[in-house]
Amino acid sequence: MPVALITGVTGQDGSYLTRLLLAKGYEVHGVIRRASSFNTARIEDLYQDPHQPGVRLFLHYGDLCDGTGLRRILERVRPDEVYNLGAQSHVRVSFEQPEYTADTVALGTLRLLDAVRDYVERTGRQVRFYQAGSSEMFGAAPPPQNERTPFYPRSPYAVSKVAAHWYAVNYREAYGLYIVNGILFNHESPQRGETFVSRKITRAVGRIVHGLQQKLYLGNLEARRDWGYAGDYVEAMWLMLQQPEPDDYVIATGESHSVKEFLEAAFGYVGLDWRRYVEQDPRYFRPTEVEHLEGDASKARAKLGWAPKVRFAELVRMMVEHDLELARREKLLVKNGYPAVSGGRD
Ligand code: NAP
Ligand code: GDD
Repeated sequence: MPVALITGVTGQDGSYLTRLLLAKGYEVHGVIRRASSFNTARIEDLYQDPHQPGVRLFLHYGDLCDGTGLRRILERVRPDEVYNLGAQSHVRVSFEQPEYTADTVALGTLRLLDAVRDYVERTGRQVRFYQAGSSEMFGAAPPPQNERTPFYPRSPYAVSKVAAHWYAVNYREAYGLYIVNGILFNHESPQRGETFVSRKITRAVGRIVHGLQQKLYLGNLEARRDWGYAGDYVEAMWLMLQQPEPDDYVIATGESHSVKEFLEAAFGYVGLDWRRYVEQDPRYFRPTEVEHLEGDASKARAKLGWAPKVRFAELVRMMVEHDLELARREKLLVKNGYPAVSGGRD
């Protein structure tokens, strides 16, 4: 049974990847951070009581800022594949916490790579490593962006991802390790964090329809993103690690939309005019913005046979429907005296 280790297992991508790997027959080990409340909501339905026989999902406390712990987990798990998805992944927050972002994203990747390097050298085992790179690394470089586009990062997050990318390339070249960089454009889902713009919008649509929210405050509405579906993108991660040789790949739909177009599609789905509900708040603007990301994934199409299945309209529909149901349940709770969840952050 192949064994996979995932950092960021509790995040959006971690939850989709865990589902995929379990379905493929893997034993999956995830690194979770100790928190004062449960942070495993996205994988709750996959969690298995370790006291039961036949369990294939295991969780380990760890942190990308704690190299010793990562090394210990590696020794215990003895993985065939490592997926490094853990990160402080919010671009605007990275302007507020640049040092912490660099610590998790850049140094965290280095810590894990170095642990893998020593583990491989000592045991002689093969370990395949996936590094979660980002289209944010292209930043101000004009679209369409592909593997040959020079990086021009525009935030502490993006700078840290560029560092992680080059650490990965260097470890591949210096030590002959099997390491791939997936350069993924934005991908969303009903599991997307609620402070990213897509989910912030679809959550607001659900709440507005159910009378739980009146206004939605956003920043830059002109920015364009190449939005795909997380379920499709974790397939690409897995495919990258199944190739004879390690390489770097852009994963994208090849189609971009503005935040305004997202608003039109999401509010339009429930027959509302977004202009009546949306206001701009300067706090959501970034000191340096990435205006236009639109990927060219022709290499992934040719070499991995990968293509996105879910397109923009379908993605928006899926997210709005999910969040309408969530708001319906929230309304029931509020009616029964539970406090309303405060929406509309970041
Ligand atoms: P996400 O939902 O924000 O999940 C991030 C994960 O990292 C969570 O499990 C989080 O744990 C964990 N984490 C944060 N700080 C950590 C630390 N110090 N040590 C260990 N784990 C830590 O992000 P995502 O959307 O799934 O993205 C997955 C990866 O792909 C990230 O590296 C992101 O930067 C990158 N990426 C994402 C996209 C996208 O559009 N989604 C595109 C390109 C690249 P908690 O649950 O405890 O917070
Ligand atoms: N979050 C947020 N909140 N973004 C807003 C808002 C708002 O209220 N209003 C406008 N935006 C704009 C942002 O300025 C940005 O141009 C765009 O919406 C998308 O923002 P996010 O959804 O936060 O995503 P991102 O593109 O900055 O970063 C995501 O994608 C990257 C890949 O390109 C994250 O998932 C990163 O981790 C990932 O690497």
